Order: sequence, then structure tokens, then C-alpha cells
Amino acid sequence: MSVFDELRAHASLPFEQARMLPLEAYASAEVLDAELATVFARDWQCVARTADLGDVGDYVCVDLPVTGGGVRPIVVIRGEDSIRAFDNVCIHRGAQLLTGCGNETRITCPYHAWVYRHDGSLVGGPYMAESTEVDGSPFSPDRHRLPEVRVELWNGFVFVNLDPDAEALGPRLAGLDDIVSRFDMGSYVTVRDEVDVWPTNWKLLVENFMDAYHVFKVHKESFGANGDSTGATEMYPGTLDWAHHRVVEADGPGLTADLDDRLDGEWRRTIVLAAVFPGFVIQLQPDWLWFLRITPIGTDRVRIAWQVAVAPATLVAADDPDDLVAGINALVDQVNSEDHPIVAGIRRSVDRPQFDRAPLSYLERNVYDFDRYLATRLSR
Ligand code: FES
Ligand SMILES: [Fe+2]
Repeated sequence: MSVFDELRAHASLPFEQARMLPLEAYASAEVLDAELATVFARDWQCVARTADLGDVGDYVCVDLPVTGGGVRPIVVIRGEDSIRAFDNVCIHRGAQLLTGCGNETRITCPYHAWVYRHDGSLVGGPYMAESTEVDGSPFSPDRHRLPEVRVELWNGFVFVNLDPDAEALGPRLAGLDDIVSRFDMGSYVTVRDEVDVWPTNWKLLVENFMDAYHVFKVHKESFGANGDSTGATEMYPGTLDWAHHRVVEADGPGLTADLDDRLDGEWRRTIVLAAVFPGFVIQLQPDWLWFLRITPIGTDRVRIAWQVAVAPATLVAADDPDDLVAGINALVDQVNSEDHPIVAGIRRSVDRPQFDRAPLSYLERNVYDFDRYLATRLSR
């Protein structure tokens, strides 16, 4: 039975019978190619926060993984009327237009100085007086524009989709919207912006982030410093687009400042762990937010672009905001150092598939949800 046959069978397994994915799925180059062709080429990927693009002309460059192992460079830019995304490549002769992030009134190609507007239309290029269009008419800049990539904004995040025919994101995430929109996470202030590369398969990282089972053990010194929160975990079944669970601690310490009235009742001490498949995961709290954009580099290397952002009222209420931010940063650093050897170790284990996969805990329901999404996508 090929790994794809096994994945097809996995897609219809009920949770009670599910195991981790077939081990080969974490190590096979063919599976990675299929993921790039079906999942990353056709599903929505988070590329930035709208807060990263606050002013007209603000831009962020991202490289999206594509089939064959390369990347497709995209630039996301705020124009006068909306946020748009384009292939980050000049239509003249293919130079990369922008790098990193910044602000530009006009996009000027670094090669021969062709100039584009924020809506991707071409203003013109120098020394083109003798040039013609293919039909022989004089070169006409208004006949040319940057290739545009679909964008949707969702709760303060910018998502793109490389498939022009993909189903819209908003309706797919309506159920998750009902849960997270009350937090107004788009208003949170970015305090950290990092990119890491870890030696593991990208799926193991998504699974680990959504795994509520390991927290009491792996994170007993960090998240668990004030006691085991496993009993406070509320697990919910996911969909083929997203999944989530919540941690509602009786005395979530200092989660919301008194001056912050965004959230009512239990929500004031609720932590939401959510995934938008394939690779966007968030830990959303009343006081701060941690999110990861997870993309594969190979079967055993994953790129993790992550940020931490803090609720404005929490910063205002803090005696020493720098101290508060330093505390959050120390916590996420510790959590990362606790997870790293685990997920790297699993990646090594799947190269030597010598074990029969065993049942999951009810606390791994969201791992199953992600695996079912992936197996379903690879089966279609
Ligand atoms: S490649 Fe951009 S102006 Fe020539
Ligand atoms: Fe973890």
C-alpha cells in the first residue's frame, strides 16, 4: 500500500480510530511535493498582519514555497484603497522589485527603473521612446501591470492564495471568527518578529502547536509553572479548514487589565489555541498573542515566521511595559526550547519507522483535525 493509499484511508478514519499520520508522510519527498501542489498552491496562507501595513506604501515581502523546492516571491503592499499582493518581480526582465519590508510611494525596479503604482499598474520606464508593443504600436505603459495574487483580510491578518479559483477564506472561517473576533487581536501591538528554521517536518510543528496533551509534561516549567492546566482545557472538534481548543483557567492571572472591557465573563480568562490550515497557528490570550506562519523548506526543515503582540490596554496598564514584554519573550523562548528537541526527535524517528502507531488522547483531537484536513487534501 503506497503512502498515498494510506493517506486516503486516513482521511475517513473516525477520531477514535485515528493514529498519527503514516510515518512516511513526514519523510517522503513525494508527499512534500504533493503538499506543495495541493495544499500550499491552493489554500490560504497568512503572510502578514495588517498592523505591519499601517500606512499607504507600507510593504512586506514574503517567499511562498512552491512545487519543486523553490519559492515564489510575493510583495504585499497597502495602497490608497486596499491591501494588495503581487508577484515580487518586474515584468520588464524579471528583476526582484523589493526586499524585506518598508515604505515606498512608488515601486521602482532596481534594474532599469521601471515604476509601478501601489495598485500594480505601470507608470512607465525611462529610455523607451523607440520601443513598441508586439502589435507595433508605441510602448504603452497602461497596457502592463504586475501579476496580482488574491488577498483576504481576516481579524487583522493578511492572507493570500496562489489559486485564482480558490473558495473565499471568510466563509470558511466563519465559525472561528465567532470565537476570536471578540478579542480584536488586530489591535495588538507587535513586540517581536522572528524567523527560525527548525530541523523537523512542517506537519510535526503544526501538530505540536495544536497538541494540548504534551503541555503538562513538556511545558511544566513554563506554561505549567502555576500548575497543570490540562483540566482547564476545553477541546472542540475542528473542520476541514480550521481547528481550536481553549484553556479556561479559574484564576487566569492578570489576563485582562481592569480598564480593558473587550471581553465578557469567562472570555476574560480564556486562551484560544487555533489553527487555520495549512500552516497558520495562534495562541490568543486577552493580554497577548503569539502566532506562527509555518512553511516547509524540505521534509526535514521548517521555516517558522513568528510574532508576539500585546493588547494595547495591557501595555497601558503595565507598571513597566518593557518588563512585561521581556517576561513574555522569556516565556516564549523557554517554550520554544522545550518543544524543539521533541519535534526534531520525532522527525528522526520517522526515518526509522519501526513502531506501530498507537491511539491518541482526547487532548490530541486538533492533531487529528489537522491530519484529516491534510489527508483529505492529498486525496482529492
Ligand atoms: S527588469 Fe525591471 S526595469 Fe528592467
Ligand atoms: Fe509545545
